[in-house]
Amino acid sequence: MRPPATSAPVLATTRRDLAAARAGLAAPVVLVPTMGALHAGHRALIRAAGTVAGRAGSVIVSIFINPLQFRPAEDLDRYPRSLDDDLAMCAAEGVRAVFAPTAAEMYPGGRPEVTVDPGPMGQVLEGEFRPGFFRGVLTVVLKLFHLARPDIAVFGDKDAQQLALVRRMVSDMDLGITIKSVPTVRDADGLATSSRNSYLTPGARAQALAIPRALHAGGARAAEGAQAVLAAARHVLLAEPGLATDYVAVVDPATFTPVGPGHAGPALLVAAATAGTTRLIDNVSVMLAGPDTEGHPRDAADH
Ligand code: PAF
Repeated sequence: MRPPATSAPVLATTRRDLAAARAGLAAPVVLVPTMGALHAGHRALIRAAGTVAGRAGSVIVSIFINPLQFRPAEDLDRYPRSLDDDLAMCAAEGVRAVFAPTAAEMYPGGRPEVTVDPGPMGQVLEGEFRPGFFRGVLTVVLKLFHLARPDIAVFGDKDAQQLALVRRMVSDMDLGITIKSVPTVRDADGLATSSRNSYLTPGARAQALAIPRALHAGGARAAEGAQAVLAAARHVLLAEPGLATDYVAVVDPATFTPVGPGHAGPALLVAAATAGTTRLIDNVSVMLAGPDTEGHPRDAADH
C-alpha cells in the first residue's frame, strides 16, 4: 500500500510548470490521463498507478477535457468540472503532480493539423458512432506522453477500445511506454462508474442498468459460444424500451473485430446505449468455448 502523501501534489497548468515538476520526480513515473470529475473508477486507476510506481516512484495525473474528442453536438460545454475535489483526491492518494492545462496551453497553435490516425480499429463501434473521437483521444494521449514522459501509463478497462488503441499506438509508434489496465469499477447497482453518470436522472439510471444486466446475461452464456452470448445480451437490452442501443457485439479484444460464430477463447462483449440523454459504454470479458451454431456464418455483432 502506497504511503499517504506528505505534501499536496504540485499543480502544473503550463508545459513549463510540468517540465519543472517532472524534472524532480523519481522513476518510475506513472501517468494517469483523465478528463477530471474524478470518481471511484479514477481512484482505482490512481491507486494502481501508485502500486506500480512503488515507494520510490511517482504518479502524475493529467486533468484535461480534450476538445478534440468532442463533436459539436456533444457535451464539451457541460462536461462536469470539479478541480478542487479532484486535487483533494490526488492529494489523498499520494499523487506527486497534477497537470491541468487549458486548451490554449495544450493546443497553442489552435486545432492541430497533424493528428494521430487511429487506423481501422478506430473506425468501428465507438469510432463509427463518434467519428473523429479516437483521432482526438490518440492525439491528446500522444501529446500527454511527450509532455509528461512517463515510464508507465494507466488506463481503465471500461474504455476498452480506447485502451486497445493506445496499446496499438504505443506499439506501432515505438513509444516505449508500458500500458497498464485496471478493471472497471462498478457502483453497488452494477453501473460502471463514469463522470457522465452524473447526468442521469433516477429514471434514466434505472434504464441504464439494463446495460450491465445485459453484459452479465451475455457473459453467463460464454460456454455456449459467441452467438449465445450476443443473443442473451441483446434480449436484455431490447426488453428495456427506454434505452436506445447503438451496438452490442462480441469482439476480439486486440482488434475490436467481431469474432466468428465458432470462435473459442477470450473475447469482449461490448455495448453502447443512450439512457435519457446520456450515452454510456460498458464491456465485460468473456471466455468463449467452442462453436455455438450449426452453419450460420454470421459475425457476432449487432447494430
Ligand atoms: O478516458 C479519458 O478520460 C480520455 O479519453 C483521455 C484518455 C484522458 C484522453 O482525453
